Amino acid sequence: MKNISSVGQPISRLEGHLKVTGQAKYAGEYEAKDLLYGYIVNSSVTKGKIKSIDTSEVKNLEGVVEVFTHENKPSTAWFDFKYADMDAPPGNVFKPLKDNIIRYNGQPIALVIAESFEMARFAAHKIKVNYETESFETDIESNLDKARDPKKGLASLLKPPPPKPKGDFQKIYDESAVKTDSKFRHGTEHHNPMEMYASTVIYEGKDKLTIYDKTQGTINSQMYVANVFGLKMKNVRVISPFVGGGFGSGLRPQHQLFMAVMASLALKKNVRVTLDRAQMYMIGHRPPTLQHTKFGADQNGKVNAIYHQAIGETSQFEDYVEIVVNWANMLYPAENTLLEHQIVPMDVYSPLDMRAPGGSTGMHAIEVTMDEMAYQLNIDPVELRLINYSQIDKSSDKEYSSKELRQCYLQGAEQFGWRQRNPVPRSMKRGNKLVGYGMATGIWDANRIFARAQAVMKADGNVEIRSAVTDIGTGTKTIMTQIAADTLGISLDKITFSHAESQMPFAPIQGGSFTTATVGPAVQNACQALNKKLFKLAKKLENSLFRNAKFKDVIFRDGSISLKERPEIKMDIAEIFKANDGKAIETTNSAMPNPLKFGKKARAVHSAAFVEVEVDEELGMVEVKRALTAVAAGKIINPKTAESQVLGGMIWGISKALHEETILDHKLGKYMNANLGEYHIPVHADIHDLQVLFVEEHDDFINDLGVKGVGEIGGVGIPPAITNAIFHATGKRIYDLPIHFDRLI
Ligand code: MOS
Repeated sequence: MKNISSVGQPISRLEGHLKVTGQAKYAGEYEAKDLLYGYIVNSSVTKGKIKSIDTSEVKNLEGVVEVFTHENKPSTAWFDFKYADMDAPPGNVFKPLKDNIIRYNGQPIALVIAESFEMARFAAHKIKVNYETESFETDIESNLDKARDPKKGLASLLKPPPPKPKGDFQKIYDESAVKTDSKFRHGTEHHNPMEMYASTVIYEGKDKLTIYDKTQGTINSQMYVANVFGLKMKNVRVISPFVGGGFGSGLRPQHQLFMAVMASLALKKNVRVTLDRAQMYMIGHRPPTLQHTKFGADQNGKVNAIYHQAIGETSQFEDYVEIVVNWANMLYPAENTLLEHQIVPMDVYSPLDMRAPGGSTGMHAIEVTMDEMAYQLNIDPVELRLINYSQIDKSSDKEYSSKELRQCYLQGAEQFGWRQRNPVPRSMKRGNKLVGYGMATGIWDANRIFARAQAVMKADGNVEIRSAVTDIGTGTKTIMTQIAADTLGISLDKITFSHAESQMPFAPIQGGSFTTATVGPAVQNACQALNKKLFKLAKKLENSLFRNAKFKDVIFRDGSISLKERPEIKMDIAEIFKANDGKAIETTNSAMPNPLKFGKKARAVHSAAFVEVEVDEELGMVEVKRALTAVAAGKIINPKTAESQVLGGMIWGISKALHEETILDHKLGKYMNANLGEYHIPVHADIHDLQVLFVEEHDDFINDLGVKGVGEIGGVGIPPAITNAIFHATGKRIYDLPIHFDRLI
């Protein structure tokens, strides 16, 4: 029997045409009657108080409607309300305009509302602020005495603290035949999505708003607005069908949303607030982090002792953490571990999850350490990983629900041509360039949480699937349509996936690489429930062919129901609608992992990354000539969008290793390169031959679809692989990221 299937097919993203032809509307592009524009004024000092803020001159300018500051902030906002958002760290969420206290450089201190964006911006720059400044600290390296354990909170559910110490690290490390001891430093990074943060708030009458918001979670923004402004959930509608890049920056409602809603409610007008590029550097960042690793192994390469310490930056008001040190023992089954993570509160804005938060930081240190170990032992780096391979996550002593990492190493090495590598550093050359091969392991969570979905079938056979989930460019719309098509047994073109409206069935923020595994099963359940309804109705028809059949005996395909064993016994679904007076048939269903069962196994997605670099010794320039990432992420619903996710992650990895860093001047407390001219990201000339390989992985534990997530794994293995390749090429071990040419001269 031929089984039509769109799952597994490289379907081009369904909204692609709308995007490339400019028809897709983003949050800052919606039309609204008599729309007013807001522009935010940012603090030019890092810490202190606003003594006075003079808005009188500006308020008289033609076209300026109002200027909001802490002095005239409307009473509509619940400034002391504790509710934050789905990705809030423990602490007190920052609320702009709450008081006159300056907590970080760039803090929003006023909002100008005008009849045009240009007028608002012009006026904003004319506002005179008188500050009383205080001394501040922004450098974690000179404030290590302030390092402390982070507070725990709800966020710890998805970001568990480091596992407790195990065995006797110090003793076994001291006795180890081979030891490493390495320190790493990572700089600040900013997300820099192409689309700026924007909220267009439509004032629908008393206490009722429709908001076009740039966000990774429509319900997250809805809950935030409803709680902070004391509105009813049903009266706050948040819409975000297209998102021009998130990378984590939209996991929390950003302050333009707060500002726009505040102004709209106060003025009873439609209001849009858009950030500019410089302001995009004031909404959260990947925190600078220091790391220290000490691994001890025996003569055969078996790692028996692991120490991994991380110290990261946070703000003075929230305890932001990411998972940096939990990974080593999930991969390498040492019995003696000491894993620590502390934070240093600085006078900066709170850091915010950025693609593979913590994983891309921690795995850099871990995999560079493993590379050092391989050289000391004179064992091939791939071989060393295989010597320390385990199907058990030793940090929790749980078996992996699936783990085809071995195949990632083997197939990746084969396809990359790893065998051609001469292991001796500085031994490979091409012209006047030193050539280096490096590899590293990648790991990331395979999480799954709660979601709902609705399926509606109309008499014409067209189906609408509805979910509040956003598609931040990942391919979610396309993938969900594929899952629905296969479950219902109808073709893709009969299905519309409507999404990204807060009034639709619940979906969490899109992030953590958990969207497909979370929303996919909800879509599948809704479609399955729709099939059951159809089947029940089919059975009730006069002279039904299925009178004696059970649901498990039939299949749904080509828009018809047929008996599995006797496919010629078949009925068009249209028949059911005829008997049902053409009424639509609908169902809404949930999906979540069984809480009693889900924690019984360890769950992760894995990768092996291989890179070839060329280093110009005179100039120190590094080029990644080739990179390959082999990924084991369960069932791949759409190889095209999945590959695109991993490629994006790999480019991000190259960027993290060689380009990106936001430079904070500790005398000013200010980011000095808050623009895309000086914040370096790769351009086409930096990106050469990239390959993605998905290895077969079956996982029937994680969900019925067998899917994990591919949003973040692509960025994890590349930075250490590049560091290791640079060592192989040059014999120089650089521990800090990014590696700019000056480090190699
Ligand atoms: Mo991702 S950092 O969870 O958007």
